[in-house]
Amino acid sequence: MSPDTPSPTIDALFLEERRYPPSPEFGAQANAQPDIYERNFDEFWETEGRERLTWFEPFDKLYEWEPPYARWYLGGKLNVCFNCVDRHVEAGRGDKVAYFWEGEPVGERREITFADLQADVVRFAGALRRLGVQKGTPVGIYMGMVPELPVAMLACARLGAPHTVVFGGFSAEALSDRLNDMGCEVLITQDEGWRKGGKVPLKQNADAALEQSPGVRTMVVARRTGEEMPFEDGRDHPWDELVAEESDDPASCPCEPMDSEDLLYLLYTSGTTAKPKGIAHTTAGYLVGVAATHHYIFDVKPDSVYWCAADIGWVTGHSYIVYGPLCNGTTSVLYEGTPDFPDRDRWWDIVERYRADILYTAPTAIRAHMKWGSEHAEKHDLSSLRVLGSVGEPINPEAWMWYREHIGGGRTPIVDTWWQTETGMIMITPLPGITTTKPGSATQPFPGVDAVVLSDEGEEVGPGGGGYLVLRRPWPAMLRGIYNAHDRYVETYWSRFPGMYFTGDGAKVDGHRDFWLMGRVDDVMNVSGHRISTIEVESALVDHPSVAEAAVCGRADAATGQAIVAFVSLRGSAEGSLEMLDELREHVAQKIGKIARPANIVFAPELPKTRSGKIMRRLLRDVSEHRALGDTTTLADPTVVEELQDRAATAPSEEA
Ligand code: WTA
Repeated sequence: MSPDTPSPTIDALFLEERRYPPSPEFGAQANAQPDIYERNFDEFWETEGRERLTWFEPFDKLYEWEPPYARWYLGGKLNVCFNCVDRHVEAGRGDKVAYFWEGEPVGERREITFADLQADVVRFAGALRRLGVQKGTPVGIYMGMVPELPVAMLACARLGAPHTVVFGGFSAEALSDRLNDMGCEVLITQDEGWRKGGKVPLKQNADAALEQSPGVRTMVVARRTGEEMPFEDGRDHPWDELVAEESDDPASCPCEPMDSEDLLYLLYTSGTTAKPKGIAHTTAGYLVGVAATHHYIFDVKPDSVYWCAADIGWVTGHSYIVYGPLCNGTTSVLYEGTPDFPDRDRWWDIVERYRADILYTAPTAIRAHMKWGSEHAEKHDLSSLRVLGSVGEPINPEAWMWYREHIGGGRTPIVDTWWQTETGMIMITPLPGITTTKPGSATQPFPGVDAVVLSDEGEEVGPGGGGYLVLRRPWPAMLRGIYNAHDRYVETYWSRFPGMYFTGDGAKVDGHRDFWLMGRVDDVMNVSGHRISTIEVESALVDHPSVAEAAVCGRADAATGQAIVAFVSLRGSAEGSLEMLDELREHVAQKIGKIARPANIVFAPELPKTRSGKIMRRLLRDVSEHRALGDTTTLADPTVVEELQDRAATAPSEEA
């Protein structure tokens, strides 16, 4: 590159040319038809707002935008629980299954109809009310994937009490930080959870958390394993005894009419500092956003059996296991456990049993299945699947191909959906039946979403260019700020490009204006002045037939600024030999160019991930530069990094 051409904000190196046009048969029956992209922003969200929800009082203004805060569906009154539960029963659909629940221990199953769900929610809301919960009371929820979890969330919504769900894998300390930040007065938990055949001591963690959270005066404990445990008098209440005294008549505990902009929940997400951010979502805009996206993107039909395999403790579970699907009256699968318990075909057994037609999961899970091999899926009849979804990280093209072939039978459209806890709803995604998909591309902004890629200077980058992903217009489900942290809200999202929401992600756009997500901009590597995204190098590595998963990061290098270090986990029987090392470096050079060739490769059985499955590249940098590790509290399995530290200390490196 000559010295006078400005260097691109992020280089676009990886060229993926496979294309999958939609089948005409799918297109003909799809919920989204091509004219959806011609709909005007106001008209689209206005119509979705009026038709997708049931209002106690209609809204009179679509939205108000005073950057950095938006308000939507102003003047409206509604209740989220009414929309997700009661109205379906009132419309005569009480016998329809809301959740097929599958416990982790094999053979434990429950079928919960919308009428059952209503009865459970009404009773539990009545119990909470008796414990003093009312409109505005902040409630913490710390549970595993049991049916009582959505019941607890919906009961809060029924009463107008905002909740914060804390993922059941978090520690007592993480729990108490969140309870304190929100000022929770009540905590709902369970005795223990099941995880990989072992028990997770949820109540015990909750007890420890409450020692640091004196504001919580009441704890409700659902029974799961039935293990005997100490109850603190006056503070702790068994769920089953409470609800036994309550009526299941919906009129006995009616849905509180809420304002469109009343707080529905906070969900904490980690930032660069240790203090998590309480992302605020409100009532109407959030519900419209998640229900509309769920309907069009997954092509959900009245007889669909939809399975989102995320945990409800993450935003994916809030939006696409609880609120979106229930608002649309959809039948879902709810699975308690891990994908490899007791065997690696557990998921495929579930798909076959319930004849699921839609599956939504994360690249990390797809890569795990890829590593285990396709023979586990082959044991089962997966022909019911019609649509596959991916979320959480950029999906490597080879993982996308594997998903399509081995799970989707080479037939199903894949929707690679980009969004964040902050956006509340899916923002960039193909629409099945319309979009020509490309492995690794999230393709197009959803109708009514205005996304662009900007350069360092804030100019829109043209086709082939890489830069910062930015959202220019407000959208209904957008966050309404960080709880009690206005300055941090402005600083994190609104200061990079004034008046526009900065996502923190890098992206490129191709000649069809399709978007390719390139990971967090903080992870972008700078090698001899070339800004290289982690996902492109990782995808080049995963493209090699022996590689199951790869994570790369930059380490300081005197000659090139940064040098690329790759952590690679191999498939099945492949060995991390010196020959393999050379082969992989050469493979990357061929696939995307010599500049991106890793200087070091560390072979590792597992990569360090957050509890939601995202690779923690920040820790890889610490390992690569032989530093003490930064904050590891969100790490799923700390032994994985220790192993990497040992291996990195002895890994051969390039002799330039
Ligand atoms: C990443 C999860 C590429 C991205 C819903 C985003 C993705 C962060 C995708 C938000 C995707 C999510 N392709 N990257 N399809 N989906 N991400 O808050 O970096 O847990 O900013 O929300 O995940 O993660 P969060």
